[in-house]
Amino acid sequence: MRRTVLKTLFLAVLVVLINSVLITAVVADTAGEKLFLETCAECHQPDGRGIPDIYPALDGSEVVLGSGVDVALVLIIGRGEMPSFDGSITSADMAAIINYVRNAWSNAGATISAETIEALR
Ligand code: HEC
Repeated sequence: MRRTVLKTLFLAVLVVLINSVLITAVVADTAGEKLFLETCAECHQPDGRGIPDIYPALDGSEVVLGSGVDVALVLIIGRGEMPSFDGSITSADMAAIINYVRNAWSNAGATISAETIEALR
């Protein structure tokens, strides 16, 4: 009898833990997507394909697939017609945007932390 209670309790705790991990992952993902749509999509387009000969595609881009640090440097320094975002985006938001673009559409890449970006600035 006591064992059954403990078992049920254990399972309940497990379900709560798993749910909170899943919810955190979904919230983090949506934050990056939202920031991308607000800050980058006007040029690079919501589907990440850009506009040929004007704004490069981020979907399949060598820079984006290369490393999170490369993307962070583009955002911090700016590039050509693209403005620097050093003064306007926090390291935490930059990390969320970079982790989103590196894993959106057909892209897949390791994530970067806000601390790593902070150290680049
Ligand atoms: C005002 C338009 C504009 C906005 C807004 C903008 N970009 Fe760009 N981006 C560009 C242009 C233009 C280039 C190409 C620059 C060059 O190589 O001369 C570029 C290049 C890049 C590159 C390099 C891609 C490659 O394959 O060479 C990355 C990565 C990138 N942008 C990411 C972002 C992210 C992430 C955001 C949002 C935080 C963003 N950009 C916002 C215009 C923009």
